[in-house]
Amino acid sequence: MPSIKLPFLLLFISIYTLVLFRAAGAIGVNWGTAASHPLPPEKVVALLKANRITKVKLFDADPKALQALAGSNIEVIVGIPNFMLHGLNSSFKAAQNWVHDNLTRFVSEGTATVRIQYVNLSLFGYYV
Ligand SMILES: *[C@@H]1O[C@H](CO)[C@@H](O)[C@H](O)[C@H]1NC(C)=O
Ligand SMILES: *[C@@H]1O[C@H](CO)[C@@H](O)[C@H](O)[C@H]1NC(C)=O
Repeated sequence: MPSIKLPFLLLFISIYTLVLFRAAGAIGVNWGTAASHPLPPEKVVALLKANRITKVKLFDADPKALQALAGSNIEVIVGIPNFMLHGLNSSFKAAQNWVHDNLTRFVSEGTATVRIQYVNLSLFGYYV
């Protein structure tokens, strides 16, 4: 396993908008995908694993990030950007469609599933 030290990860974080948070004793990171030079999702996941990060929050249901997290055993919290909240809140059907279109395939692929813990409806920005 590649050994990437925490200071390096912190440097990386400040550049790539990954931000550490703490949840129930575990260290997690916020994974933003709006960086000017985002790393390939597979590299981000390798870095998370190398640093024993067990939880990650995504700002949206980015399919590339979710795909890269499949089978990693990292717990994932999926955020919904503010601009989407109104539409999703407008009907139960809209929310169902969103889950179906963006999440279902990642939690139903046998062994290589994404451990989605929950979907965060009020997230936009960093919180600790
Ligand atoms: C969602 O809908 C409920 C009930 O219609 C409403 O009270 C709430 O303000 C809405 N929230 C958003 C973010 O649109
Ligand atoms: C998720 O699904 C909805 C339609 O159900 C779509 O409008 C939206 O762009 C999809 N993608 C993300 C990342 O939420």
